Amino acid sequence: MTKIAVLTRDCGGVNAAIRAVVRTAVAQGLLVEGVMRGYQGLMSGDFVPLDRRSVSNIIGLGGTILKTAREEAFFTTEGQQAALAQVRARGIDGLIVIGGNGSLTGGRILAERHGFPVVGIPATIDNDVPGVDYAIGTDTAVNVALDALDKIRDTATSLERIFVVEVMGRKCGWLAMQVALAGGCEEVLLPEKDVPIDALCQEIKEGRALGKASWIIVVAEGCSTAVAVAAAVTAGTGLETRIAVLGHIQRGGRPTAFDRIMAARLGHAAVEALVEGRTGGLVHLVRDRVEFLPFGTAGDVKRTDIEYDYHLLKVLS
Ligand code: F6P
Repeated sequence: MTKIAVLTRDCGGVNAAIRAVVRTAVAQGLLVEGVMRGYQGLMSGDFVPLDRRSVSNIIGLGGTILKTAREEAFFTTEGQQAALAQVRARGIDGLIVIGGNGSLTGGRILAERHGFPVVGIPATIDNDVPGVDYAIGTDTAVNVALDALDKIRDTATSLERIFVVEVMGRKCGWLAMQVALAGGCEEVLLPEKDVPIDALCQEIKEGRALGKASWIIVVAEGCSTAVAVAAAVTAGTGLETRIAVLGHIQRGGRPTAFDRIMAARLGHAAVEALVEGRTGGLVHLVRDRVEFLPFGTAGDVKRTDIEYDYHLLKVLS
C-alpha cells in the first residue's frame, strides 16, 4: 500500500480524525489525498494532497476542511464505476470514510461490491450507526445542545413558561434523550417511545395545580416537530408555550475533548487496519479499546436502554 484517500461528512471531531489519519499515514510512509465534497468529489476526481502541514491547527475546528455534500449519484453503478476509475487513475490503494450511515454505506458498497479496501470511522451526531456505542461528534452535539437548553431554561424559569425544544437525530432519539437527561428536562418525545400528548397535558395541568411553574419538553425530530407539540400542549392545557428548534448549531462547534481523543484513536486505528489488510468494516471503541467491526454484521444493535433512561428522566424531573 502506497497511497490512501480520506473522505468525510461533517460534525465535531471530523477534522481531528482527518489529522490523525494523515499523520499516522505519513508516519507509515504513505501518501494521502483528501477527497473534496464527499462522494461527489470521489466521482468527479476532486482530490487534494494532504501532508503533515496541511492538517496543522485543525484539531479544534468544527465541520470538515474537506467540505462535504449529499450525493445520490454515487449509489448508481455508473457513479461507483466513476469513483473507482478516479481512485485507480491516482494510484490510491485504500479509502478511509469518516461519516454516518449514508457515508459508511457508500464505503460498504465499494468494499463488498467492488473489492476496494475501505475502512470506516463512525462520525455522526445522530449516534445511529448499528453496533457502535459512540460515533465521533455525538459528545460535541450533546454539549452544544445542552448549552442552548441551559440558556432556554433561564427564560423558562424566569417567565414560568413551557418550552418545547426540537433536536436533531434523524430517526434516532439518542441525541434527544441525552440532552433531556443532561438538561434535567421534564419530558422527552422520541421516535422509539410512544408518549400520548393527552397524558403529557394531564401531567402539566396536575403540576400547575401543585405550583410547578415551568417545563422543558425535548422533542426528537424523528418523532414530531416543536411547532406541532407546542400547539398540542397549548390546546390540551390552555397554557402558553414557546418553541426553539436547535437545528444545525448541533452539528457545528469546537469538538469536545472526548470527541478529539476518540478521533485520534480511531483515525490512527483506521490507517493501521488498512495497512494490515483488515478492511470492509469500521473501527470503533468498545470499553475504550479499538475494535474492528465488519460492515453489516452488527444487525440492529441498540446502544442504550431507552426505557431505563426515560424512567430515570421521569423520576428525576
Ligand atoms: O445526520 C446528521 C443530521 O444533522 C441529522 O440529524 C439531520 O436530520 C440531517 O443531518 C440534516 O441534514 P441536512 O444538513 O442535509 O439538512
